[in-house]
Amino acid sequence: MQLDFGALAPLEAYRWLSATVTPRPIAWVSTLSAEGNANLAPFSFFQVISDEPPTLMVNIGQRDGQLKDSLLNAQATGELVVNLVSMMQAEAMNASAEALPHQVSEFAHCGIAEAPSVRVRPPRVAGAPVAFECRVAQIQPYPATQPNCHLVFAEVLLAHIDDAVLDARGRIDPAALDLVGRLGGSAYCRTTELFRMQRP
Ligand SMILES: Cc1cc2nc3c(=O)[nH]c(=O)nc-3n(C[C@H](O)[C@H](O)[C@H](O)COP(=O)(O)O)c2cc1C
Repeated sequence: MQLDFGALAPLEAYRWLSATVTPRPIAWVSTLSAEGNANLAPFSFFQVISDEPPTLMVNIGQRDGQLKDSLLNAQATGELVVNLVSMMQAEAMNASAEALPHQVSEFAHCGIAEAPSVRVRPPRVAGAPVAFECRVAQIQPYPATQPNCHLVFAEVLLAHIDDAVLDARGRIDPAALDLVGRLGGSAYCRTTELFRMQRP
């Protein structure tokens, strides 16, 4: 079959893209509002896009035409923490996607423990295998003419890595990391099924 994306409704385009471009890592983003209220939400339109400077990118869409709290907070404070999601925290991550009033913290509402950050003010998720403390490098509305999302470029300042996900040489053990990836709809996968290839 062929799909003409010019003829697809936005929801259909989203469904096809999100079911095919898989697995997607999940950025579990913590931010603080200008008033100091914590916020936590997952985003799977997410990638590492540069190592020099070390930069992550999160695509934050709209809800009913309104900007999401994570974006408002990143705009207001210039800071965010990108936590990665292990299988152990998959349910908590999913719970934190609930749309709550701006002043209500998903940490408190979902019973997710916070840990203090070092270089930025938003807390990180306690127990996350990896948490990247970031400053906002750039926020780009997309597309330029009629934006319906914002691309948040986040420069990594400091990473917390759980010692339990390191191997004997001090490098990441992917099986111990046990991250969840997003597939289409309600489907997810884990990083525990591995194979290796040597480059030519
Ligand atoms: C696994 C997962 C991935 C998601 N990915 C995105 C995404 O890439 N972009 C987006 O705008 N919303 C995404 N969402 C929805 C947001 O998490 C949801 O709208 C959330 O309520 C936003 O919270 P906020 O208003 O506190 O920022 C995702 C939800 C889940 C469960």
